[in-house]
Amino acid sequence: MENRQITLFLDKVRDLTNKQELIKLVIAKQRNPLSDLKSVIVTIVELKAGIRLNFVYRYQTRDITKNFSPGEGLPVIKKYLEEDFLNAELFAAGETIQLTTVSRGKIKIKTTKPVLKPVTSFSHDHVKERVVSTDQNIYLRELGILNANFEVRHEMSDKFLQINRYIELIGPVIGELNLPDGFQVADMGSGKGYLTFALYDFLTRKLGKNPVMNGIESRDELVNLSNEIAGKSGFGNLHFVTGNIADAAIGKIDILIALHACDTATDDAIYRGITSDASLIVCAPCCHKQIRREFNVTGPLKSVLKHGILEERQAEIITDGLRALIMESQGYQTRIFEFISTEHTPKNLLIVGKRVTRDTSSKQNILENISRIKELYGMRQHYLEGLLKQVKPLTA
Ligand SMILES: C[S@@+](CC[C@H](N)C(=O)[O-])C[C@H]1O[C@@H](n2cnc3c(N)ncnc32)[C@H](O)[C@@H]1O
Repeated sequence: MENRQITLFLDKVRDLTNKQELIKLVIAKQRNPLSDLKSVIVTIVELKAGIRLNFVYRYQTRDITKNFSPGEGLPVIKKYLEEDFLNAELFAAGETIQLTTVSRGKIKIKTTKPVLKPVTSFSHDHVKERVVSTDQNIYLRELGILNANFEVRHEMSDKFLQINRYIELIGPVIGELNLPDGFQVADMGSGKGYLTFALYDFLTRKLGKNPVMNGIESRDELVNLSNEIAGKSGFGNLHFVTGNIADAAIGKIDILIALHACDTATDDAIYRGITSDASLIVCAPCCHKQIRREFNVTGPLKSVLKHGILEERQAEIITDGLRALIMESQGYQTRIFEFISTEHTPKNLLIVGKRVTRDTSSKQNILENISRIKELYGMRQHYLEGLLKQVKPLTA
C-alpha cells in the first residue's frame, strides 16, 4: 500500500526536478543493516541529451555513479523510499525537507529553512565536478581543507585544486595497471598526507582496488597525526611510518610516489622504485641544487648561463630531463608534464615512469644521450646515476 507521506515527498522531488530547483537528495539509513549500499545521493546534471538525475551509490568501499532521465529516476527513488531506506533529506533553493521513519510504517515529514546554496548551472560544461568528493570527507576536514560543514575553506581552495588535479592525472594511470590485490604503494616524504589520503580514497572507493599504502615521513608528529586521521577515516590499509626515504625498511614496491621531496631525496626515492622493479614511479621534484653545483659550462652556452636565473632554470630542466632519461635507461617509459599551473604553486612538474621492456639498442642510445648532455654542461654525474652505479652499472 502506498504511503501518503512518501507520495507527498516524491511529488516534491518531481516538482523541484522539473523546476530545476533540486540541489541534492540524500537517501540514507538502510532497512537492511547488512546491505553494502549505505546511501544514495541524487543531484541534477545537464547533459547534451538534456536534464538527468545523477545517482551516486555509496557502498562501503566504493562509489558508483549512474545517470537517469527524470522519468526513469523517480520510480527508482520511490522504490528506495518504500523498500530499502528509512530516511531522506531533500535540499532545495527555498527549503530543506526531511523524511524520517519514526516507527514501523510511520513516516514524518519536516520542512525547515534552506541550508545549501542554489546551483546556478547544472551543466557539466560550467560546473566542474571535482574528482575528490567533499561529501562527509573526514580526512579533508581533519587536514583543514574543509570546514565543519564539509565545505572547502576559502584559503585552502588552491590546495583542494592541487589535490584534485593530482588524482585526475594519476588515478587513471594507476587504474590501467594490472596489479594484484594488495599491491604495495610507497609515498615517500608524505608530509601532512593530503595527496596520500586522496589517492588511497580514490583507489579504494572510486576504483574498487585493494592497495596497501605506506607513507614514509621523517617527521614523527606528521606520522602520528596522519595515522590518527587514517583511523578516523576507516582507511585500514593506509599506514604512515617514521623513516628516511633512502633507507626506510619497506618491502616490495609496486608504485613509488615522491611528491615535493627536497633536491636529491627525489633521486633516493626513484632509486628505490627502480631497484624494487616498481611498475610505476611518480615524482614531483622540489628544489634542484645538485646539478647546478655540477655545471661547468665552457662553450657558447656560458654567455647565456651567466644570468643566475637562467642558470637556475636550466639546472631544473637538466636535472629532471636527466632523471627521465636515466629512468628510461632502466626500462621505464617516461612522461613529464605540468601538474598545476604555476599561479598555484611553483613546484609544478610531474615525472611519471611506467615500466616497459626495452631492447638493448634503444637503451644504448639513451645512455649515449645522457653522456652527451653531461659533456655539454661539463658535468660529472647526476646523483641518481651515482646511486644506480652502486648496484646496477649504467650499461645496456
Ligand atoms: C614539501 S613536503 C611534501 C609533502 C607531500 N608529499 C606533498 O606533496 O604534499 C616534503 C616532506 O618530505 C619530508 N622529507 C624530506 N626529505 C625526506 C627524507 N629524506 N626522508 C623522509 N622524509 C623526508 C619532509 O619532512 C616533508 O614533510
